[in-house]
Amino acid sequence: MLVFDSSGAALRKASEIIKRGGLAAFPTETVYGLGVDAFNTAALARVFEAKNRPHFDPLIIHIASYRSLDRVVLLSALGPDRRALVKKCAAAFWPGPLTLVLPKQPAVPELATAGLSTVAVRCPAHLAALKLIRLCGEKGLPGALAAPSANPFGSLSPTRAEHVIEKLGDKIDCIVDGGPCSVGVESTVLDLCSGEIAVLRPGGITREQLEDVIGPAGSGLRGGPPAVGQITSPGMLKSHYAPQAPLFCHSGEEMAALTRRDDEAYLFFSGKNRRFSGEAVLVLSETGSALEAAANLFEYLHRLDGMRPARIHAEILPEEGIGAAVNDRLRRAGALTAENAD
Ligand code: TXA
Ligand code: MG
Repeated sequence: MLVFDSSGAALRKASEIIKRGGLAAFPTETVYGLGVDAFNTAALARVFEAKNRPHFDPLIIHIASYRSLDRVVLLSALGPDRRALVKKCAAAFWPGPLTLVLPKQPAVPELATAGLSTVAVRCPAHLAALKLIRLCGEKGLPGALAAPSANPFGSLSPTRAEHVIEKLGDKIDCIVDGGPCSVGVESTVLDLCSGEIAVLRPGGITREQLEDVIGPAGSGLRGGPPAVGQITSPGMLKSHYAPQAPLFCHSGEEMAALTRRDDEAYLFFSGKNRRFSGEAVLVLSETGSALEAAANLFEYLHRLDGMRPARIHAEILPEEGIGAAVNDRLRRAGALTAENAD
């Protein structure tokens, strides 16, 4: 596996690998993606194999601008109101951590969309990612990269190149190292195809931000976050984003009342409820910033899990803004633990 920096020359080499059907991990503002040419079925098949990902779980296609949308999306299959909403969402949030589920162009391979008639698409807010996608364009056509998060299926998402190298290094052709990801949780997945507009996965764009553009819940946007046990999107399994150690979610008061054990690890949201310290005690944001907590989430979970604790105790954030996405990841990370305790 080759490791590249994000210089122009290095991105060109990575794009050549992708154009030949290779697998290239690259940074986005949310998490690292494992990119392949969205129209190359052999390369798509290799992504599922490398991640050990079930074929029923469709991929997100990454494009470099709204102008490339037509390559993967059949906008004419939507009514005029929805078409206008697609434009509005893209204008408000692209480039950025919002994925739109839209009618698929027939040319997009079924493997990418798991046989669905819809396709998930987003334009990432990361310069190296945008440059790489553009360099993958050919014969006057804009580039389009199918890219799931660059981690083995079900495990913690990668927010640094080292996470990818450790878990998938022997299965991919190259990685573009762009340093740590700034947002730290995956994109929000918004379904614009169904009767009711729905958030299928909470993420980097908050419900509050979406309501500012689409209108409040009830005016078209379905209310409430997706429940952890409910599969709203093929990939939204109850247990996901999981560390190897069993993880337990707690309120702030519960965390403050825990008794420290040497073989356990602790992930506090802020400094407020931390009653003890030590190597296996991390604080997502000393000042209680949900944005900072999101950016640190997977990095800190990787770190704690690496200490091989008997348990990880994690503090849930206030259920607002990007805190909702962080909590969704923590609950899914702890879902198997909760099930075994039932
Ligand atoms: O931030 C992100 O979105 C990152 C970076 C790399 O862009 N990507 C990412 O991809 O999180 P992945 O494969 O880990 O998650 C894709 C999610 C899954 O939950 C999948 O089920 C959903 O998007 N999805 C993809 N296509 C869909 C479709 N047609 N309908 C409903 N959900 C879809
Ligand atoms: Mg993922």
